[in-house]
Amino acid sequence: MSKRRRLIVANWKMYGRLTSGLVLARDIAELAQSDRPLPFDLVLCPPATLTWAVGEALQGTPVVLGGQDCHTATHGAYTGDLSAAMFVDLGCRYIILGHSERRYGHGESSELVAQKVEAAQLAGLTTIVCVGETAADLQAGATAEIIEKQVRESLPKNVKTSNLVIAYEPVWAIGTGQQPSPEDVIVVHKLIRKVLGEIGETVRVIYGGSVTPANAGTLLREDEIDGVLVGSASLNAEGFWAIAATCQQGS
Ligand code: 13P
Repeated sequence: MSKRRRLIVANWKMYGRLTSGLVLARDIAELAQSDRPLPFDLVLCPPATLTWAVGEALQGTPVVLGGQDCHTATHGAYTGDLSAAMFVDLGCRYIILGHSERRYGHGESSELVAQKVEAAQLAGLTTIVCVGETAADLQAGATAEIIEKQVRESLPKNVKTSNLVIAYEPVWAIGTGQQPSPEDVIVVHKLIRKVLGEIGETVRVIYGGSVTPANAGTLLREDEIDGVLVGSASLNAEGFWAIAATCQQGS
């Protein structure tokens, strides 16, 4: 049985319009509704345009709101950007940072990610910091080296461990249907804990990359895997709930 509370996160990426997003959020919240508190944390990270409306729909439900990415500054002349405090205004408790779609799609460095983590934690958000090797890194046998470097460089010196989650997301496993074996995930999660040092045992380390209802059970039965970060399978309420429900017992 895991020592740490499990965390199931939906990353909707740039999917969902107002009507479809609200239907999805309401359906997930309805499935999660229970007389007893959920034995795990369930988080929805919609696109920024839906955050307010989804937050309203989640009021009074056990489902928590999160955001996707933020700027390093609290405010300023940054056209198109959003600050961590703005996500707090919208009711967010979590934020996804350093996702590979930001690192590789927007050229974000680990140093920038660390600045964002610092800003988001200062605003009171729990930061889900993504790390992961590319297919080329994997082929070159450089997974451990890349993960160690990304973890070290993506966290600020004064990181608040109570507000920290690390998501191991191999880039080659995102949206491809491919996945490392649970054993390979465990090796990387243990490495992440080692790099984190004395805080390693308390920080939640979750896995992301082609998680589906069919494979979530084999991942989530492992003590080392504290949860999952789900992309495309989180866009279906029943499917996402089926993933979450695999950790109903044993959390
Ligand atoms: P998929 O679940 O679609 O592979 O996406 C994973 C991901 O990037 C979650 O952040």
